[in-house]
Amino acid sequence: MIMMNRIAKTSVLGNILKRGLATASATPRLKTFKIYRWNPDKPAEKPRLQSYEVDLNDCGPMVLDALLKIKNEQDATLTLRRSCREGICGSCAMNIGGRNTLACLCKIDQDNSKQLKIYPLPHMYIVKDLVPDLTGFYQQYKSIQPYLQRSKYPDDGKEVLQSIADRKKLDGLYECILCACCSTSCPSYWWNQEQYLGPAVLLQAYRWLVDSRDEAFSVRKSMLQNSMSLYRCHTIMNCTRTCPKGLNPGKAIAEIKKTLASN
Ligand code: SF4
Ligand code: SF4
Ligand code: FES
Repeated sequence: MIMMNRIAKTSVLGNILKRGLATASATPRLKTFKIYRWNPDKPAEKPRLQSYEVDLNDCGPMVLDALLKIKNEQDATLTLRRSCREGICGSCAMNIGGRNTLACLCKIDQDNSKQLKIYPLPHMYIVKDLVPDLTGFYQQYKSIQPYLQRSKYPDDGKEVLQSIADRKKLDGLYECILCACCSTSCPSYWWNQEQYLGPAVLLQAYRWLVDSRDEAFSVRKSMLQNSMSLYRCHTIMNCTRTCPKGLNPGKAIAEIKKTLASN
């Protein structure tokens, strides 16, 4: 048993050494990352793009890997949000190569002759560097009352059941991680974000409108029955094109409009 453990350890060590040597001996493949920088502590300095070079031979495959490598090895002042590094928390949303997406799910283009530009989510106030201020976005989310509302719960204190068909209506909605990629890609949201709820929050509003267990349908409906909250959507579909989770907020908005018209 001891012998087997030794053999296993030796081969693991050997593999690590081999990998290390291969990385060290390969010609560096330097790729330039141009990253938006702005520091609120130096308000007189205008926002700028700062260039960093990263050796792709010594970097993970995702844009978040490169950003963390830059932060850890070159410039600790570079500021970004991230947590899960697997497309679940939604915090690493940013504009990469012209598209809103999650840095942890976005592969680095291995063509190192091409520079990669990275900006924060567009048309938002910036806290610092790649960190947008999402306060308004979360207030809008809160405004749609994103929780189950019922007057009565089962006597046995157990869960409120729903049919398989009713549960199915939530597919494509419950997976939303509120990353805000869609809302910040929507021209209507750019110009009216004080009043228009935007695709992410509307997708969430629809998620509660169609939940068979919820009893607040008329309240939810009346919150959307005005000219701004919902009807600023002009079906441009940037939202659906950009969603890194493959969801379809544009369709959810169309479904809300249908639901409101027929109820
Ligand atoms: S619909 Fe997609 S892009 Fe929009 S907030 Fe949800 S996960 Fe993000
Ligand atoms: S479909 Fe509506 S919500 Fe989506 S980008 Fe277009 S206007 Fe915005
Ligand atoms: S780090 Fe959580 S979604 Fe990217």
